[in-house]
Amino acid sequence: MQTGSDYNGGMSDRPHASPVSASQAERSEIIFPADANALGNLFGGRLMQFIDLVAATASSRHARAFTVTASMDHVDFVAPVHVGDLLILKASVNRAFRTSMEVGVKAMVEDVRAQTLRHVSSAYLTFVAVDQAGNHVEVPEVIPETDHQIRRYDSALRRRQMRSDEMARTREHRATMPPGWSL
Ligand SMILES: CC(C)(COP(=O)(O)OP(=O)(O)OC[C@H]1O[C@@H](n2cnc3c(N)ncnc32)[C@H](O)[C@@H]1OP(=O)(O)O)[C@@H](O)C(=O)NCCC(=O)NCCS
Repeated sequence: MQTGSDYNGGMSDRPHASPVSASQAERSEIIFPADANALGNLFGGRLMQFIDLVAATASSRHARAFTVTASMDHVDFVAPVHVGDLLILKASVNRAFRTSMEVGVKAMVEDVRAQTLRHVSSAYLTFVAVDQAGNHVEVPEVIPETDHQIRRYDSALRRRQMRSDEMARTREHRATMPPGWSL
């Protein structure tokens, strides 16, 4: 088995370390006019909902717990999705931290006649695992197995650091705002 550059081989106290493949999720949607904007393309907010749902499935499966979306970042809308398209979304837990996980989602349109896939969107989301009472719970470690999964495992740590820096800046900004005006 290959491992991430700083993956510890599952030697932690946390139970159930599991491979990325065990929690990967896929969702398929045929796009209807009700999902479209005035140009007949899938509305971005609806695509974000699909992304959130497939990512929630993967994170919940990995954590073996309820999970809530803490953030969604780097959503790229690469190409439009049209009414009638078959949208395929794939989600993987890139890395688990203490109570949070980064999930990567890739959205593609499948051309069923040509049997090809066209990349339309990508996103990274962070989910936090919670128990029935809403308390945060620790999540199992992720075992990256393929070269691709190892790269995403490694880069997830860099993105977590960037998020953490951004959260610190936001907290500082909030502290300067009058009551009721904090963002
Ligand atoms: C996300 C939420 C659980 C964080 O709770 P919190 O008590 O402020 O968070 P903490 O500072 O204790 O951090 C808990 C974990 O969440 C992570 N986290 C918190 N805010 C985050 C953010 N904005 N982005 C990414 N990760 C975040 C922390 O890094 C930490 O991870 P770790 O345990 O793996 O180290 C809380 O803000 C919440 O419940 N938000 C609403 C979630 C929701 O309802 N989502 C649906 C959309 S409406």
